[in-house]
Order: sequence, then C-alpha cells, then structure tokens
Amino acid sequence: MEKKKILITTAIDYTNDVIHVGQAYEKILADCTARYYRDVYGMSNVHFLTGTDEHGTTNEKAAAARNLSPKQHVDDISKRDREQIDLLNISYDRFIRTTDEDHIRIARDVFQRSYDKGDIYKGEYEGLYCEGCESYKTLTELTEDGKCPNHPTREIQKITEENYFFNWSKYSVFLKKMLNRDKFILPEGRKNEMVSFIDNGIKDIPVTRPSYKLSWGIPSPIDPEQVLYVWFDALINYYTFGIQNNCWDEDTRIIHFVGKDIARWHALLWPAMLESAGIRSPDIVYVHGFITLNGDKISKSRGNIIRPEDLVKQFGVDPVRYYFLKYGPITEDVDISLDSIKDVYNSELANGLGNLVSRIAKIAEKSNMLFPLSNDNNIYNLEWDKPMNDFRTDLVLSNIWSEISVIDKHINDNEPWKIKDTDLLHSVLSYEIEGVRKISRMLRSFMPDTAEKISIQFNQERITFREALFPRLQ
Ligand code: ME8
Ligand code: MG
Repeated sequence: MEKKKILITTAIDYTNDVIHVGQAYEKILADCTARYYRDVYGMSNVHFLTGTDEHGTTNEKAAAARNLSPKQHVDDISKRDREQIDLLNISYDRFIRTTDEDHIRIARDVFQRSYDKGDIYKGEYEGLYCEGCESYKTLTELTEDGKCPNHPTREIQKITEENYFFNWSKYSVFLKKMLNRDKFILPEGRKNEMVSFIDNGIKDIPVTRPSYKLSWGIPSPIDPEQVLYVWFDALINYYTFGIQNNCWDEDTRIIHFVGKDIARWHALLWPAMLESAGIRSPDIVYVHGFITLNGDKISKSRGNIIRPEDLVKQFGVDPVRYYFLKYGPITEDVDISLDSIKDVYNSELANGLGNLVSRIAKIAEKSNMLFPLSNDNNIYNLEWDKPMNDFRTDLVLSNIWSEISVIDKHINDNEPWKIKDTDLLHSVLSYEIEGVRKISRMLRSFMPDTAEKISIQFNQERITFREALFPRLQ
C-alpha cells in the first residue's frame, strides 16, 4: 500500500432515535477494518471516526414529540447511541457530533469556500421532500401511492421556498472520472447506479433551508435567514476530524463505510462539495447492504427494533461481532433472526472455536509439558487476510475457520490423548498449540476479547485450561 496513513469513517447516525442493529452493523464492520489496519500498519497511522448527525427536520421533530428542546433531545440520544456502540467494543478515535463547536465552524468555512468559488447561488425550490431521507425527491423516486420507498410511513412534503443552490451539475465530468478510478466505489456492482444518476443529468440542489421553516441547523455564513441543508452539514464531519488530526492529506487513504441508501451522497455530492472548496476527495466509498429482521424492514412503526444491547446481553459482544462480520450485509441485503444467531453461536463458536481451544488446553495441561513460544509469529505473510483488501470480513473469517478445521482434523487423526510416547506427544501438541496461537492473533480485529482470552491461556510455556469461551446455549 502506497499511502502511510488511513482514515476510516462510518456514516453518522440521525438522532431521531437510538441506533438499532442495522446501523450498528456498519460500526462493527468499520471497527474490524480499523483494528486490522492498526495491527498491520501501526496504531498511530490509523484514524477511526464515528458519531451522530444532529441537525435537520427529523431531529427537530423527534425533539418536539418528546417536548424537549432540540439540544436536550440530541444530547440524550447521542449519549445513548454512544453507549450502544461502546457495548460493541467499537474503537473509534473520536465520536463526533455535528453540534460540536469545531464542526460548526469548519462546516461554515467549507460552505463559504464553495460560495467564494461561485458555486452557490440563490434560487427558489419547488418540489418534494422526504424528511426520513432528509432529501429532495422527484416523482419517479416515489412509490405509486406517492410514498418514499425507504420511509413508507412518512408523508412526503411539498415545499416551495427560497434557498441557496449548489452547482452540482458543474461537477458531472469530474464525478464521472472519479467513479472510473480503480476501487473508488466498492463493491464494483454499486457503481452502475451512480453512473446512471450522472447520465440522467445531475440537477443542482438546495444546500440551505430558510430558518423560519427549520431553525435547527448551522447558520449559513452568507445569509442569516438560512441554515445549512443537513446533508451539506453532515458530510463535512469527516473533514472536520480529518483536518484536525492531520489525516486529510495526500498521504492518507480515506475510506468511508456507508449503507446503500446513502451511497449517492458520498460518491457524488461529497466529492463535488470538496472539489468546489478546493479540498481532496476520499479514496474509497464502501457500500454495504441492509439488514432485515425476520423478513421485515427494521423500523419504529413496525415495533421490531433490536438494539445492540439486546443482542450483547443475550450472546456476548464477540459472538455478536462474529455473526455480523460473517453473515452481515457486506455485499447484499441479509435477513437475520435471533434463532439464526443462536445456531451460529452454537455450531461455529461453542462447538467450533470454543471446543477446539478447550480440548487442546485440557490435553496440554494434563501433559505437564512446556511449549515454548515460537519466534515466528508473523501472520501477515500468509494468504488468509487477502480478502481484507476488499473489506470482505466474511471471507477472511471463512479462511480462519478453515485453519480451525485443519487443527481439529489434526487432533482427530492423531488422538493425542492416546499417545504414550512423550516426544511424539510433544510434537503433536506443539503443532496444535502453535495453530491456536496463530488463530488467536488472526482473530484480534474480529473478536478482540476472545483473542485476548485465548492468548492469556496459550501465550505462555505452561498451558492451563481456564473456562469454556462460549458456553452452549439451549
Ligand atoms: O443516513 N441495515 O443516518 P441513518 C444496514 N445521518 N444498514 C443500515 C440499516 C439497516 N437496516 N438502517 C440504516 C443517515 N443503516 C445520515 C448519514 S453521513 C454523513 C449521514 C445504515 O441513521 C445507513 O445506510 O439513517 C447509514 O449508512 C447508517 O446506517 C446511518 O443511517
Ligand atoms: Mg436512514
């Protein structure tokens, strides 16, 4: 890899409600990637950002519904979001909030730069708006009954208002070039949708809203009667962090993780905004699919919201991380259920990894032998982690589980519990113990606590059995 530093970001969540497992999936994926890169390139070369998106209509209305001021409301939800992601062991370097003072200052500054460039002009918008998406809509984007496909329970707003427009269309050629860059958008299959959006002709969009309609926003630096459009404000969070942590320069590989519903903002609006303000663009936009629950969209109105804490209480943090990294919507949408999490827990963790570690620890303890640590513990000269180049945590985990099968087979073939010859027993066990040591290193980014527990038992000459890593669930 040619660039020395890496910046990894997740989308920042709307604070209309506390995050659910769908939104949390992205945090786990990005966290695993950040931990992996820290392991490979060193702690100080990796920066990892997440946070909350707190302005705009959705947040303002959610506050009103609770009889709270917008600030009281977003303070509360943002804090609870953070508790949820802390439960998942998400190792962010900063939890940014768009109400943070530094972000407000930098967002205004970026807006001003784009205005000074001549890319922001006054106009009048007449059309449709989905408050769920915080996005302008055309009729063709709505369902037959005039609803937003992503937010079918919300009424589409008809709005007529004066605002400032961003000359998005001016950047069509620039964006087209950007899309053709190798791996700008991943997986490859997500590119077509972006290309056709450009080919259909990009229309300029408002990037402010009048404050008499929406007061909960960052005041525009050029007109006190207007606040920044929430997407213009929110996207800048990445730059706010990057510029202050010396990781928005040419030496940094900037990677955004986002869900499929917001790929367009990241792959098309964001680079145009940056180009207009004279700032470099990100390197990669990784687009994941959606999680549904027992076949349904996760939503408040359906009453089927599962939060990270619900799963962590039931299964523990690492099994939850494992499940999503292995079976989450890394490329396509996936449906999950508590039963499927439990099945995976029992078969792959309790019977798979957990059983392997206990078996070997018990035999090694009983043998009373010493197993010196090997000097060769580089795991990055092997092939197992190659799919990480495309963020395929699912494929990397399959590779690690193949290693587990190899060691399992070695135990079954050699039956060390029957071996009487001490030299032979030592050599058989040494191979298996080295295998477990290697597996625990491979697991560090995926299941950090589990990797640590294995290494406490195995990274010493005398191996002692502690307790089962994953007690079977009934
Ligand atoms: O879009 N499955 O915030 P958000 C998988 N504030 N991912 C899901 C999901 C599901 N069921 N539901 C949501 C926003 N997501 C903006 C982002 S970034 C500058 C501003 C993903 O709270 C969604 O695709 O609606 C997005 O990437 C993230 O969760 C936050 O969604
Ligand atoms: Mg959303």
